[in-house]
Amino acid sequence: MIRRELNGVHHCPAPRECRHLALTLLILHHGVSFHFTLSLVSSNNTMRRVVRQSKFRHVFGQAVKNDQCYDDIRVSRVTWDSSFCAVNPRFVAIIIEASGGGAFLVLPLHKTGRIDKSYPTVCGHTGPVLDIDWCPHNDQVIASGSEDCTVMVWQIPENGLTLSLTEPVVILEGHSKRVGIVAWHPTARNVLLSAGCDNAIIIWNVGTGEALINLDDMHSDMIYNVSWNRNGSLICTASKDKKVRVIDPRKQEIIAEKEKAHEGARPMRAIFLADGNVFTTGFSRMSERQLALWNPKNMQEPIALHEMDTSNGVLLPFYDPDTSIIYLCGKGDSSIRYFEITDESPYVHYLNTFSSKEPQRGMGYMSKRGLDVNRCEIARFFKLHERKCEPIIMTVPRKSDLFQDDLYPDTAGPEAALEAEEWFEGKNADPILISLKYGYIPGKNRDLKVVKKNILDNKPTANKKCDLISAPKKTADTTGVQNEAKLDEILKEIKSIKDTICNQDERISKLEQQMAKIAA
Ligand SMILES: *[C@@H]1O[C@H](CO)[C@@H](O)[C@H](O)[C@H]1NC(C)=O
Ligand SMILES: *[C@@H]1O[C@H](CO)[C@@H](O)[C@H](O)[C@H]1NC(C)=O
Repeated sequence: MIRRELNGVHHCPAPRECRHLALTLLILHHGVSFHFTLSLVSSNNTMRRVVRQSKFRHVFGQAVKNDQCYDDIRVSRVTWDSSFCAVNPRFVAIIIEASGGGAFLVLPLHKTGRIDKSYPTVCGHTGPVLDIDWCPHNDQVIASGSEDCTVMVWQIPENGLTLSLTEPVVILEGHSKRVGIVAWHPTARNVLLSAGCDNAIIIWNVGTGEALINLDDMHSDMIYNVSWNRNGSLICTASKDKKVRVIDPRKQEIIAEKEKAHEGARPMRAIFLADGNVFTTGFSRMSERQLALWNPKNMQEPIALHEMDTSNGVLLPFYDPDTSIIYLCGKGDSSIRYFEITDESPYVHYLNTFSSKEPQRGMGYMSKRGLDVNRCEIARFFKLHERKCEPIIMTVPRKSDLFQDDLYPDTAGPEAALEAEEWFEGKNADPILISLKYGYIPGKNRDLKVVKKNILDNKPTANKKCDLISAPKKTADTTGVQNEAKLDEILKEIKSIKDTICNQDERISKLEQQMAKIAA
C-alpha cells in the first residue's frame, strides 16, 4: 500500500527524501501519531528506512497580518541575484528603485504600514546598489556595494533616518567593476569583505579605510557568492567558472577546490556550515536545481547531493548554525523549503515547505538576536514582493511559557571577539556567545570611527569611470599633484597650530606666575 501511495506522488515539492512527508501524512491519516519521521530513499526501487527524531519536524511558517507588512516599497529591479534585503534586531534595509543613482531604505522594524514616497533613503551611491549587509557588531552600521564600483559604510542614527543620508562614514575604493557582494567578518571588528565583477575579493579594515588583502588572481570568472566560516579564518566562494573554492585569505591561498561542483551553467551558492563543511546550491546539466554538501578536506565527491526540481530561480540558502537548519528561498519561487543538516545519512534531511501564492523578489533573514523567544520563533524572513515586504515567522509549536533552552542554544552576540588588527595579524576567534533567555540585548552602540592611516589617500576620485574597462586603479600623475598641494596645506596648518600652542604656553606660564604671587 505504501508503495502505491508513493508512486502516486507526482509533484514532489522538494528533494526525493521528501517523499517521507507523503508517507508521514499517510500514516497520520490512518490515525497513528508518530514522533519520528520515516525517511525513504527510493532510488531504483529499493527503500531504506531511517528513523530519525527531530524537534524541528513540525516547524511551520506563517506570514504576518497585512498591517504588519511594509507597504508601497519599490523594490529594486536590477538583475542581480542578491537578497536585496538585510535585517537586524532594529532595522530592515531594502534596496529600492532610484532614478539617477542607487538607494536603499532603512526602516525601524516597527515602522510598518505604508511607507511614504518621501521617506528618507540612503542614497550616496552614483549607481544602483547591489548588495547590503548589516555589521554584526554594531546594529547602526551597514555596508553597501554598488554598480558605481565602490563600497560604502553607513552609520544609521539611533532611531532611523529623518533625513536622507548621502554621506557615508567611509568610501572604500579599489574595485574596477561593479561590487556585487559585501560581507562583514563574523568575529573581528571592522573587517569587511567585498567582491566585484572584476573577479577580485578585497578585505578592508573599515576602521582605517585600508584595503589590506586583495585576492585578485584567484577567480577567472564572476564570483556569485562568498561566505566566511564560523570563526572567520577561511572563506568559500562559488563562481561562474563552476568552481567552489575554499580560501585562506590571509595566506592568499586556495586550500581546496571543486571543479563543476554543479554542472549546470546557472548561478551557484556556497556557504560554510558551523562544522566546517560547505553547503552549495546550483543546477545540474539538465537544469535541475541541486543542493550538495562537501567536506573541504576531500572535495572529490560530495557528502550528499540532492536534486530538487526544474525551476529557474537561484536557490538562496539561509543558515542557522545554532539549529543546523538551512532554509532555501528560490528567487521567483513562492516557497521556503527547509532542511536539517546532521552527521547521519542522508545528512541533509528535508523538514518542510512554507508555501504562499506570490513569488519572492528577494528575502531578508533576521539575526537570531532579533527573534521572539517567548513565541518559540526560530527564524524570521522578510519576503520582498514587487511593492511590499512581508515578514514570515517560523515557529516550533510548543505550549510552554518557559524559555525553551533546547531550541535556543547560546548564539553569536553583538560583541566582536577580535579587533581588525589582531585578525590581520593572524589571530582567530569563535563568536562570543550570549543567551537569548532575556530577549534582545542591544550591543554597545559606539559610533563607527574611521581613522585614515594615510590622510593623503582619503579623497575619492569623483565620477570614476569604471564599469566596462578595468582601468588602472589610480591616475597617478593628477593625484600626485593634488597630494602635494594637500601636503602643503597640511604643513601650513600644523605650523599655525604649533604657533598657537607656543603662544598659549607663554600665556599660561605668565598666568601661573601671577597666581603664585596672589597666593603668596
Ligand atoms: C551568499 O549567499 C547567501 C544566500 O543567498 C546569502 O545569505 C549571503 O549573504 C551570500 N553572501 C554573500 C557574501 O553574498
Ligand atoms: C577556526 O576554524 C578553523 C577551520 O574550521 C580551525 O581549523 C581553527 O582551529 C579555528 N581556530 C580557532 C581559534 O578556533
